[in-house]
Amino acid sequence: MIKKLQKIAVLTSGGDAPGMNAAIRAVVRSCAYHNIACVGVFRGLQGLIEGDFKDLDARSVKNIINRGGTFLKTARSKDFFEKEGRAKAHQNLLNEGVDALIVIGGDGTFTGASIFIKEFNFPIVGLPGTIDNDIHGTDFTIGYDTALNTVVEAIDKIRDTANSHNRLFLVEVMGRDAGHIALNAGIGAGAEEILIPEENMGKDRLIESLERSKKSGKTSSIIVVSEGDQIGKNIFELADFIQNNLEGYDVRVTVLGHIQRGGSPSCYDRVLASRMGVAAVDALMEGSRDVMIGIVHNKMMQVPFEEAIKDKQKIDAELIRVADITSI
Ligand code: F6P
Repeated sequence: MIKKLQKIAVLTSGGDAPGMNAAIRAVVRSCAYHNIACVGVFRGLQGLIEGDFKDLDARSVKNIINRGGTFLKTARSKDFFEKEGRAKAHQNLLNEGVDALIVIGGDGTFTGASIFIKEFNFPIVGLPGTIDNDIHGTDFTIGYDTALNTVVEAIDKIRDTANSHNRLFLVEVMGRDAGHIALNAGIGAGAEEILIPEENMGKDRLIESLERSKKSGKTSSIIVVSEGDQIGKNIFELADFIQNNLEGYDVRVTVLGHIQRGGSPSCYDRVLASRMGVAAVDALMEGSRDVMIGIVHNKMMQVPFEEAIKDKQKIDAELIRVADITSI
């Protein structure tokens, strides 16, 4: 028989993502619903090492479903990747009487969690929270939809000025090693070209393609560049290359940066985070101890951490085709 859980700890770790608050809320309220005590850990895995805990009840998470960021704060902890750091974290969990942990973060967080589970046989369930949507085993991560909407809204504005001046804009979007934000926001914003780390078209083909679209009658252009793209040394060097090799356009660069991580979560992210938070507590109650909650074909799934961290979510070839066809 599975021992009844007494206390669950929850934390957010790695880069923040809109919807993390909604996920914390769902975890805390699900614990309250099942009469399980819940404790929040501030500043992610680093706070776990430093014993930064606070008891949370259903009312502690009021008025946060609509807020971006994470009220528990977050950090990228180097100490958790040292044996000594993890031992302190484990001791703090035991001292607090915590018998299971829910971590909300990306692949770095899950890698740390996976090592911790093997070392201490401590139950952990993960929720994928990152704007990058690069986690294997889930169709969507918490925060991705909001980030896409932020990017599309920004590019719509850039398009107005690009069009008025007959300019070519390079717009850099986030996604450290993954092109999901660039590809989807690029299609949604009607970009002429989308440059992602998973595909390197090369500078010469890029110029040829831009020349073709200019000949076809386009008077301005938007190129969405994922920050991990390899085509140039960086976006500014690429802008200089285009300026020097393409006639007739004035070239400008906009780096969207961290605005993509902030802001009120979209309804999709709020609902996704709520479903995942409830599913995480259910998973722990069923005795799962080493899994990420994913959404696949709109169904909640439990994905072993090992699966989630062994690979990145692949780019969908159909989307690349759609981008190619609709940008002519
Ligand atoms: O992992 C999410 C992310 O937003 C990436 O897209 C980006 O490369 C990175 O975080 C930036 O991290 P930081 O805020 O620590 O500089």
